[in-house]
Amino acid sequence: MSALPNAHEALLRNRDLIRGRLALIGLSDAALLSRLPAGGLAMTEHAGVFAQFPVLKGWLPAFGYDDQALQSASADTVVVFLPKARAELTFRLELARWLADDGARLILIGEKREGIAGAVRQLKEVAPDAAKVDSARHCQVWLAESFTPVSAFDLEAWMQWHAVECAGVNVDVAGLPGIFSDGELDDGTAMLLRSLAEQPLSRGHALDFACGAGVIGSWLQCWQQAQGIEPSPVDAVDVQSQAVICAKATYANARALGDVVASDGLAGVTRKYRAIVTNPPFHAGVRTDISMTERFLQQAAVHLQPGGELRLVANSFLPYEALMAKCIGPVTRLQSDKRFTVYSARRR
Ligand SMILES: C[S@@+](CC[C@H](N)C(=O)[O-])C[C@H]1O[C@@H](n2cnc3c(N)ncnc32)[C@H](O)[C@@H]1O
Repeated sequence: MSALPNAHEALLRNRDLIRGRLALIGLSDAALLSRLPAGGLAMTEHAGVFAQFPVLKGWLPAFGYDDQALQSASADTVVVFLPKARAELTFRLELARWLADDGARLILIGEKREGIAGAVRQLKEVAPDAAKVDSARHCQVWLAESFTPVSAFDLEAWMQWHAVECAGVNVDVAGLPGIFSDGELDDGTAMLLRSLAEQPLSRGHALDFACGAGVIGSWLQCWQQAQGIEPSPVDAVDVQSQAVICAKATYANARALGDVVASDGLAGVTRKYRAIVTNPPFHAGVRTDISMTERFLQQAAVHLQPGGELRLVANSFLPYEALMAKCIGPVTRLQSDKRFTVYSARRR
């Protein structure tokens, strides 16, 4: 049996804390479910983990914070796994308190290197009597037998909007806790947008890979409109539930065209595009990890029409240029500074 993430192993060590109906929030490995035979609700905000959820009797799967499977007062034990972003912990704790029925218990589990010690302050704000019950697998396990309940979990109320401007074109962008670059335009994305204004894409259906809150696709269509060009649809995919929720809201607000779907890498993408634009992920967890983007580059040509363009911004030190040339076709550097470079590769 392969090893689970430390926080999942820490729950298995403490499974006797589970009473009644169980709800798990923030799973990062679907294999945990087959090790917990009693079943319950299992929520992950990662489309790749969700796709791996086994069909097991007793388990109710949920993808992200807007899944219909999430129901008020439906759990007697709610387990919250510590997310990377501190703001997302507050979000998860609110969801946990809404899922919890009268008399339910709340368990918070996280790794020390991911900041569980600091996160406990947030737990104690809603559950002052929470106590540490185990320390193992580089994790701490905290149990709260009583906490302030909440009667509503209102995504609209959590959504924050901020304005983004580039090349004289403004769009309003939605944000939820845990989303990339919440509240501001990322500097790399800003350089990508400038390149789209100064060296426009050919017209045609495009894809924004790893779309986050949907800023690129909505800005691009607003910019095209401002130039008197009929906007081309930009489909958008991201692995994270909050990104999909926010990108849908950003698109609706900007009246942008294109399907927004959850996808781990290009797994959920079926068509071929005139262009793919992306500010791809390179950071996963505590270490720098570019394997996801390398996989994306190896598969991107399949989703480009012949002569189609891949437009990508990345930190200048990342070694993508040679891989783009090998997997897609000739590469040009469109913009560059000490931090970021925008590359354009044409499919042979
Ligand atoms: C650098 S951010 C860019 C977000 C947005 N395009 C922008 O410019 O603001 C990268 C995005 O990649 C997403 N991501 C990470 N791993 C992914 C994967 N395996 N498949 C699809 N998207 C992924 C993250 O959720 C994040 O929203």
